[in-house]
Amino acid sequence: MDKLAIIGGRPLFGTIPISGAKNSALKVMAAALLTDQPITLMNVPRLADVDMLLRLLEQHGAETQFDGSTLKLHAKTIASTEAPYDLVRKMRASFNVLGPLLAREGKAKVSLPGGCAIGARPVDLHLKALTSMGANIDLDEGYVLAEAPDGLRGAEISFPFVSVGATEHTMLAACLANGETTIENAAREPEIADLAECLNAMGAKISGAGGSTITVKGVDRLHGCEHRVLPDRIETGAYMMAVGATGGELTLTGANSDLLGAAWAVLEEIGLDIEAQDDAIRVRRNGERCKAVDIVTQPFPGFPTDLQAQFMALMTTANGVSTIKETIFENRFMHAPELSRMGAKISVDGQTATVRGVERLKGAPVMATDLRASMSLIIAALAAEGQTMVNRVYHLDRGFERLEEKLQACGALIERIKE
Ligand code: EPZ
Repeated sequence: MDKLAIIGGRPLFGTIPISGAKNSALKVMAAALLTDQPITLMNVPRLADVDMLLRLLEQHGAETQFDGSTLKLHAKTIASTEAPYDLVRKMRASFNVLGPLLAREGKAKVSLPGGCAIGARPVDLHLKALTSMGANIDLDEGYVLAEAPDGLRGAEISFPFVSVGATEHTMLAACLANGETTIENAAREPEIADLAECLNAMGAKISGAGGSTITVKGVDRLHGCEHRVLPDRIETGAYMMAVGATGGELTLTGANSDLLGAAWAVLEEIGLDIEAQDDAIRVRRNGERCKAVDIVTQPFPGFPTDLQAQFMALMTTANGVSTIKETIFENRFMHAPELSRMGAKISVDGQTATVRGVERLKGAPVMATDLRASMSLIIAALAAEGQTMVNRVYHLDRGFERLEEKLQACGALIERIKE
């Protein structure tokens, strides 16, 4: 397994192009299964998770062509309505092929995604929504067997709590349903509006995406489209936090400040000098350490759980004490003991971590446990004195495009050691 060797203590200066959002790309890719016409997606990041979903879509019969960041998908016919365990277990977003297959073919057999390192992550809300839309669902030997021989029908769905995946899955399935579907307490993450924009370009009739109530009027068929995936707000926030930890100045091209929600104000509050420019964000830290600030993760527009680990890394060298409360996932502090190996002072009590900022971290061998935790260790390593060896970096390749290259271009001493 590859490792990253990082020698820290150097400020970052330069320009980093922000890639398309992984968590949007994976959903608009699943939308390709809803039509027999080709769809062209632009600004798609080259990531291990995208490759994995491509393999699954090919297995369902889609032709795929990935050229630079432009991805063409054409599911002229559906060759198989089964999504096997091996392709779904490695990446949860694969589960979202269930709704499109069911809507188009009237049946699907999709492996349950299972839990993952950050929490149990059940799919009960996804299945309840599909059941309300008339699907018959059985669970057998780890697979979801779903049938809707006469097609799905519109339904009134009210989620008991906000779920990004269940909101997206319901939208995907409802496009071809008979009648109108309303989704109450829908997730408001920017990726939801991006998916709706893509589906509407395919001929769907979705309104309200980005708000708490979404209405989907079912149509008979969808057609091809061109769609540009929105910029990755988590990659954007992570590089902003890296500057907070190391000092320096970065221009993040292609980034959009509107997508950062509460994180923008938090980054200002800790003392970063940030400016939204035309199609870019400039971030600068002058000399002083950042100020410690408390955060609570919340659904959008609150502070995103996907930036919590990176923010904790930044707070380890901030001036003061910060409390970080994680409310979305039950086991998302695995980076804390790894950061402690580098001299961070963190105590975890249930869902709250208290971080006492120190002047400086010291390089150490550490282990990446999940995607965002990996980025948290990279940020800490960039700021630390001496060398850090980050083991198990395959998690990073799932979600951060050309990470070493982007950081090297801004003066970071970071090198991949292939094993
Ligand atoms: C998406 O996961 C993202 N993944 C996650 O990013 C992100 O952390 C999360 O949304 C929250 O913003 C993708 O988009 C591929 P949820 P998702 O359904 O859709 C519980 C990353 O690092 N829940 O909003 O799976 C669930 O267990 C990843 O890029 C149920 O109980 O998240 C969690 O506690 C990690 N039953 C909470 O809801 C359900 O049926 C929110 O999860 C569905 C969810």
